[in-house]
Order: sequence, then structure tokens, then C-alpha cells
Amino acid sequence: MKRGTEVKDRDEKLVREGESLRRDFRLWIDEVEALGLLRKVNGADWDQEIGAITDTNVKKHKYSLLFDKIKGYPDGFRLLTGALLDSKRVALTLGLPPTLSDLDLVKVLRERMRSAGESIDDYSPRTVEDAPFLENTSKDVDMFKFPAPKYFEHDGGRYIGTADAVMTRDPDTGWVNVGAYRMMLQDKNTLSILFEAVRHARFMVQKYWDAGKPCPVAVSFGHHPLALMFAGIEAPQGVSEWAYAGAVTRQAYEVIKGPLTGLPIPADSEVAIEGYIVNEPRPEGPLGEFMGYYAMGTVNECPTVKVEAVYYRNNPILLGTCAGRPPHDYSYFRCPVRAALIWDILEQAGVQEVQGVWCHEAGYSRAFTVVSIKQMFAGHDRMAGYIACQCRPGAVAGRYVVVVDDDIDPTNLDDVIWAMCSRSDPATGIDIIKETIGTPVDPLEEQDPSKDMLEYTGSRGIIFATKPYSKLLRNEFPQVVESNPKVKKKVAREWSEIFS
Ligand SMILES: Cc1cc2nc3c(=O)[nH]c(=O)nc-3n(C[C@H](O)[C@H](O)[C@H](O)COP(=O)(O)O)c2cc1C
Repeated sequence: MKRGTEVKDRDEKLVREGESLRRDFRLWIDEVEALGLLRKVNGADWDQEIGAITDTNVKKHKYSLLFDKIKGYPDGFRLLTGALLDSKRVALTLGLPPTLSDLDLVKVLRERMRSAGESIDDYSPRTVEDAPFLENTSKDVDMFKFPAPKYFEHDGGRYIGTADAVMTRDPDTGWVNVGAYRMMLQDKNTLSILFEAVRHARFMVQKYWDAGKPCPVAVSFGHHPLALMFAGIEAPQGVSEWAYAGAVTRQAYEVIKGPLTGLPIPADSEVAIEGYIVNEPRPEGPLGEFMGYYAMGTVNECPTVKVEAVYYRNNPILLGTCAGRPPHDYSYFRCPVRAALIWDILEQAGVQEVQGVWCHEAGYSRAFTVVSIKQMFAGHDRMAGYIACQCRPGAVAGRYVVVVDDDIDPTNLDDVIWAMCSRSDPATGIDIIKETIGTPVDPLEEQDPSKDMLEYTGSRGIIFATKPYSKLLRNEFPQVVESNPKVKKKVAREWSEIFS
């Protein structure tokens, strides 16, 4: 009870601190620069150089990179990568102070996401009449006008949509879905779009096609990174990501009603298009996937988008990203979001005394989740592990869940591996679940072109790195070797030069 109140008080404080936030990509870039986290890169080639710089950066300094004077493009046609590489930039993007630790960010996000459910109607997107992206509007479409990168040598093409926000409407219910789906340049006015397995937009598109119609679509290719955050996560079914993002940040999204489709385009968009998704498949890819491989073979046949209108700000800034061996350019931001979603579901399912959840970047936020609990009864760890690995945010592309005790920091891999090594007996401490939800991007899957993407399954390993409950109850588990807390505090104070 007390802990809940503390979190709420702190959260209220954060809201006040975040109040003045205006959602604008260019202001966001200024704020990142003020934090010392922006680097401007002039003269890089869209052909592989942007990709190589982006990938090297995330493995070293983790700057946000603003590319300008891109080879073959006019000055001012820019691209930003490295938007959400750490807790500072994720917090900033959400309107929170950039000082939160990973786990504090998870705690605040969890509270925000939980209360978002109740307040979602108060934060419906607000339609405005004008926006900077309407500075240039054209029905004479040429998508090669924008510096879409080919990120890596083996990519199958140039990708304008990697950190995009794709808006589609359910023809039956009117629900607007926003998802991040990759989009490759095909020709001047044609893009391809990839829907992996269980995607909301995929089902919507099918409904239009079943009725013999093309599916109206609007896409934003450059925007405040909040749009990417919410397009790229699993919002609850039937809830528009714009409303959800508004409710979580407690600031309604401003949108423009797309002139052609009526779909809500974020007002802070830098480059947007409208058009139709048609059932005219074209070869697409490959493109490196979030697991760090080109797993789906060479080339897919994917639906195409016929672009009917394009809009862009003067000197537009695309938002881009690419996968790779983790940490990669978008492996961080989904860690706190997914951890918050899983933690919340655990509590809703009645799992007591969850102390923390963290989804690790090395597992691309999906495949290595750690849940810390204060064990209350025998089997408590099983309950937490099974739910964490099968709830929706934890299930898709999952692999391992590790359950640890409350003295283990789930964000600290040394702590977690020590718990695995010293508290789990492989013969009895690992459970396997077979035939759970799978994905064709899994490098272990046999690619079978005759298979629907929805047919793939995979297994899960749950590792119980917890002290045996009966020993815990009787205080019989060996004591950890560590300093007395008072002595630790004293030496930290008196020998601060060693520890700072
Ligand atoms: C950078 C990034 C790129 C993504 N690319 C794709 C993609 O090409 N195809 C896809 O189906 N999902 C992709 N995703 C995952 C979806 O955006 C994500 O699962 C989202 O929740 C889908 O929304 P939906 O469940 O409303 O369809 C990507 C996510 C991110 C963050």
C-alpha cells in the first residue's frame, strides 16, 4: 500500500515536471543536443554508410545521429537514427525526467499504462486544421525524393519506412490502428509493406480485400519518436495507439485528418503519405530483423502501397532505424515498455510480490525476460514464469524467462547469471513449453513458403533461479557473502574517491 502511494506521489511530480512538453520532433532533437547526446553527420552515403555509422554508434557511444548533406540529396533533407538508445531518451520522449534508472522507468511506465486504460477517452487524438508537413503537398509522387537508406550490404532495397507509423482503419468498427511496419521503395509511387504474423493491420487489410476493395492507408516517416514507440508496441486490442500514447503521456496527440483517407496523421509529422494497400504482391527484402539475422530467407512477396499523395515539411527529417546484432538501433526502447506490460499482467493475474521485471536488450526485448519476486509460497516462481512467458507482450518471439529472488536486480546481467548458476539446478530448475506462438523471423525456424505466417510455433524455456522455497522458509539456504550494510555505507562515505 505504502509503496503504491510513493510511486503515485513521485509520478504526480513527474507529470508536473513534464507538463510544459510540446510534441515536436525538432524540439526533441534540441533537447537531445542539450543532453550532449546528439551528433551531426554530414556527407554520408545512403548506400550502406548510414547503416554502418548507425550500427557502429549504437555499439559504442549511443549518440542520436542527425544525417545531413546525404550523398545525392539536397542539403536539409535529413534522417535521424539512434533516437531511443537509453532510458534518458525514452524518458524524455515520454515527457519524463531523463534521470530515471531502467527499473524506475519501468515502474513509472507501468503506473502510466495502467491508468491509461481508465483515462483513454480523455486523451482521444485532437484534430487540428494545419500542420507544418502540409508546407509541401504533391500528387505528383516521387518517393526517391527522400534519402531512404539501404542500411546493409545484404538488404534487398532502400527502406524509407523502418521507424514509421502506419495508420489503417477497421472497416467494421472504425478503430484506427497504428503500427510500425517496414516499407521498401519499389518505384516512384509504389512501396512494399511487410506484416509479420499476428498484426492488427494485416487483419484490417484482409477485410478490405475480402470486400474487393483496396485498403486506405496513411504513413508518417518522420516524427517525434513517441510515434515510433507506440506504433512499435502491442497496444491493447481495439485501442488506437494515438489515444494510448496520449493517455500514457497525459497529453493528447494532435493529428491532421488525412485529406484523402481521413486517417489521423500526427501533426508533428515531417513526411507523410496517403494511398492504398493493394493485393498486388511484389518481391520485398530481405532486411535485417530484430533478432539480428536475415531469417526470412531471401525475398518475400509482400503487399504494396500505391502512394497517391505525399506531404512534407521544408527541410524534412526522416526517422530511421536498423536491426543487427544486439544492442542494435531499436533494441533498447521496447525493454522498459515490454517489462512494464508484463509486470502489470503478472499483477493482474494475481502474482504477488513482483519486485521487478526487465527484458534484456541482448534478447532484443523479447527473448530474455527476468522477473524478480519475493517468494511467498512453493510454486510462486512457476506461476510468475509461466504467465510471463505466455502473456501477449511476453509471448511473441519469446525464448527464455528467468525467475529470480528479490535480492537480485533483474536489470543486472551479472546478478541474473549468478542466480542462474547458484540457485537453479538444470535437472529440475528449467521447464520447457512446446508449440507456443512462433514467428517466421526466428532463425531456428525452417522456412516453408507454403506455410502461412500464423502457423509458426516455438518453445519456451523458463529458468527458476530461485532459492528452494522450503530452504528459504526455514532459513536454511546458505548466506550470501557480503558486507554489512552499515559498514558498506560508511566506507562509501569515507573512501568516496574510490567509488565515485
Ligand atoms: C523499428 C520497428 C520495426 C518493425 N517492423 C515491423 C515489420 O516490418 N513488420 C511487422 O509486422 N512488424 C514490425 N514491427 C513490430 C510491430 O510494429 C509491433 O509488433 C506492433 O505492435 C504492431 O502493431 P499491431 O499489433 O497493432 O499490428 C516493428 C517494430 C519496430 C519497433
